[in-house]
Amino acid sequence: MSRKILVTSALPYANGSIHLGHLVEYIQTDIWVRFQKMRGNECHYVCADDTHGTPIMLRAESEGITPEQLIARVWQEHYDDFKAFHVEFDHYGSTNSDENRVCAETIYRRLRDAGLIATRAIEQFYDPVKQMFLPDRFIKGECPKCGAKDQYGDNCEACGAAYTPTELKNPYSAVSGAKPEMRESEHFFFKLSDPRCQQFLRAWTRSGTLQVEAANKMREWLGGDGANQTTAEDADRVNQPLIDGIAGENKLTDWDISRDAPYFGFEIPDAPGKYFYVWLDAPVGYMGSFQQLCDKAGINFDEYWNPDSSADLYHFIGKDILYFHALFWPAMLEHAGFRTPTKLFVHGFLTVNGEKMSKSRGTFITARSYLDHVKNPEYLRYYYAAKLNGTMEDIDLNLDDFVARVNSDLVGKYINIASRTAGFISKQFGGKLRAASEHAVIAEMRAAADSIAENYANRDYGRALREIMALADKANACVAEAAPWDMAKQSGQEAALHAVCSAALEMFRLLTLYLKPVLPKLATEIESFLGIAPLEWKHVNDGLADGHAIQTYQHLITRIDPKQITTMIEASKESLQAAPVPAKEKSEEENHISIDDFTKVDLRIAKIVNAEHVEGAEKLLRLMLDIGEEKPRQVFAGIKSAYDPQTLVGRLTVMVANLAPRKMKFGLSEGMVLAASDERGGPYILSPDTGAQPGMRVK
Ligand code: MSP
Ligand code: ZN
Repeated sequence: MSRKILVTSALPYANGSIHLGHLVEYIQTDIWVRFQKMRGNECHYVCADDTHGTPIMLRAESEGITPEQLIARVWQEHYDDFKAFHVEFDHYGSTNSDENRVCAETIYRRLRDAGLIATRAIEQFYDPVKQMFLPDRFIKGECPKCGAKDQYGDNCEACGAAYTPTELKNPYSAVSGAKPEMRESEHFFFKLSDPRCQQFLRAWTRSGTLQVEAANKMREWLGGDGANQTTAEDADRVNQPLIDGIAGENKLTDWDISRDAPYFGFEIPDAPGKYFYVWLDAPVGYMGSFQQLCDKAGINFDEYWNPDSSADLYHFIGKDILYFHALFWPAMLEHAGFRTPTKLFVHGFLTVNGEKMSKSRGTFITARSYLDHVKNPEYLRYYYAAKLNGTMEDIDLNLDDFVARVNSDLVGKYINIASRTAGFISKQFGGKLRAASEHAVIAEMRAAADSIAENYANRDYGRALREIMALADKANACVAEAAPWDMAKQSGQEAALHAVCSAALEMFRLLTLYLKPVLPKLATEIESFLGIAPLEWKHVNDGLADGHAIQTYQHLITRIDPKQITTMIEASKESLQAAPVPAKEKSEEENHISIDDFTKVDLRIAKIVNAEHVEGAEKLLRLMLDIGEEKPRQVFAGIKSAYDPQTLVGRLTVMVANLAPRKMKFGLSEGMVLAASDERGGPYILSPDTGAQPGMRVK
């Protein structure tokens, strides 16, 4: 029986690029959706950019554009990246849409009418220069526990302590540097402390909606078995103290859902100057985006969102945002008269070569950088699928293993079956197949369909792929044993040769069907090579018929060259080393250097004699700098985001002339230009006063 299913992935923030960590989630979801569609279910996959909040507002301001311009640009980038990785949303929207506004207002009004919204004045840090209230992340100061400097307002990176911004010593605004003042303002709260919410959430989180590990986490948070501490890790990104820990009897505290102007978001109905906090309208974005899909495709929205809906609703999310999806979101839906999610599918975080992604190691890899260097997105899809098992464990992208695995499984095992047999069909049998008669391996392959399907359905893709590759091994063994290349040299073996190659291609068809959720583009190419309709699960038993014609075999994929990985890593280091990085403050002693230390740095006035874009570089400009030497120096500077190269030509600036030359992907960089930047903007390059000449020493 066909099911109606609505599937979502978390909405990526519109203030950064999609990277390989994000892709764990979108690829995982896409595989599941494609599988459901192949099974004949009515499955809709929606997502959107998450566009509201202070960081996006401030970033737009520092770029000199409106938030709307910023989010439009990022939307396009995200959309293109997903498309390139064959992540096929039925709709990709934005939380900054009219549909989303309507949904958010509806939910808010219903919660208010149900008596679940409260208002009260709270005291908060206010930046008197910037004239805005400061989110915790924009307040810095000294850690109240260990005294480390420049710690954020919610927790200390040095000692791990969690605290509120008011506890920081010598606080300052990370936006303007000003000393913040305490000011009072009225905020709106969603009353999670209401017994209705508490009761509902205790039941909901224990009713099979969560994986075991996630349910355990929630039990910790919601209490009931003695555990009562919200750890710093949990509090990270939640930004508010949510749980009053009373041993054994935890109680959810009300959730602050409003922010004061200036804020980029939706204004709260009947509350001028008050805006919905970004995390209020972000999950509502699932509905807003689905509403747009309904309008475009003639789907009945209510059928999916009414409390009595018989459709399933699944949210794929990372473990860092479990809190929002397992507490606030279901409570909002329940009490606003909508259905709640059927299940949350929570995954772990990506590590690269066993460690957290790191810019300095070059393992913070963007989707674009992967596409530029490794090119084929299906290799990554395959590797992630091989690693995913439906739990919240972190998954590791080991780059050596990635190359080895893709080359051996996809090229060596899978494609090999066709590349070793298809040629004989074309050359000797006019491209026509012979019906594969009773064949033990084919029968075994067909019999595996249900178990493979079950593994896909359970998101244990690793297991599904192990099963599929074991079948590919058997197919290869059949081919190797029959040795069609020997048969082709002997007369009287034509019928046997025809049978072996035809059987091998039927096995290849079955493997393609099973791999299609993971490798959709390759499967499409193979469908046209085999001359068959788009493969669906129900086609398992529809073997290639007697006399069926195939196309001439064309090379389908190539091995990954480990060099592609090396250049990708190098290029990923590029942006960091070239971009001016604000130095992290050190302890008092380390802060002082001697004059000798300083004079080691050879700073020179440089004239920019040429400036141009660098093909393939996201952040760099190529500058030619005259410092009175025989020929100008070439320097790659990470200032592309802030400068049009033309406007730089002829300007004087300051460069470090004795920095060791550095070989970059784009050529040799023979120095560094100085530029200023921080949260408020930049980079801004330096200009000397009138009179300075190229080559003069700066000291
Ligand atoms: N905007 C919020 C989600 C709102 S959903 C109503 C957000 N955005 S995000 O861009 O930071 O992350 C989007 C998704 O990608 C999240 O589910 C997050 O867990 C996932 N990942 C981001 N980095 C990741 C890794 N390094 N590894 C695996 N998944 C990661 O959170
Ligand atoms: Zn500390």
